[in-house]
Amino acid sequence: MRVLLSSNQIQARVREMGAGISRDYATSTDLVLVGVMRGSVCFLADLMRAIDRPLRIDFCAVRSYSGTSGGTPELVTNLLGDVRGADVVIVEDIIERGVTLQAVMQLVERQEPKSVALCTLLRKDIVRNWEPKVRYVGFEIGPEFVVGYGLDYEQRFRNLPYVGIPDPGEIDG
Ligand code: IMP
Ligand code: MG
Repeated sequence: MRVLLSSNQIQARVREMGAGISRDYATSTDLVLVGVMRGSVCFLADLMRAIDRPLRIDFCAVRSYSGTSGGTPELVTNLLGDVRGADVVIVEDIIERGVTLQAVMQLVERQEPKSVALCTLLRKDIVRNWEPKVRYVGFEIGPEFVVGYGLDYEQRFRNLPYVGIPDPGEIDG
């Protein structure tokens, strides 16, 4: 495993992002962070504690990945609560093709929130068919497949405190 972003680097950036969201939503009366399961679990847990504002959290689950390649996103779990009239920040682990975020945005917008913003820890530097307008980006990274801090390969490696690039032998079997 090659460490791409250390735990300290991630923690420092997440604190900055939390401070930014706290400023931007200082006057919001109903801020809801919507985490996209399962990859955003570490990021959401740290980000919410870096936000100095009253907030709610919610979750949805979308599945699109098999191994190291993405497919068509499929909604697995709908939002648990109601975001009607709320200021929603969708919290993603990583944007690759953007199709997962697009599916989550459609889901959230169906409930007619007051506003929707996108927040991702990582954004891959690739050409996308659809370029989502992302308000908060933690790190721009290369096109490599990464794991850790919530991100998985076949459900493994989510518990690593850093983001790393697995060696070929680590993701083959
Ligand atoms: P997109 O829909 O192509 O933007 O892919 C986003 C989803 O695919 C993320 O929510 C991740 O779950 C997964 N994904 C994309 N790239 C990676 C990666 O490098 N490692 C692990 N999961 C990834
Ligand atoms: Mg995943």
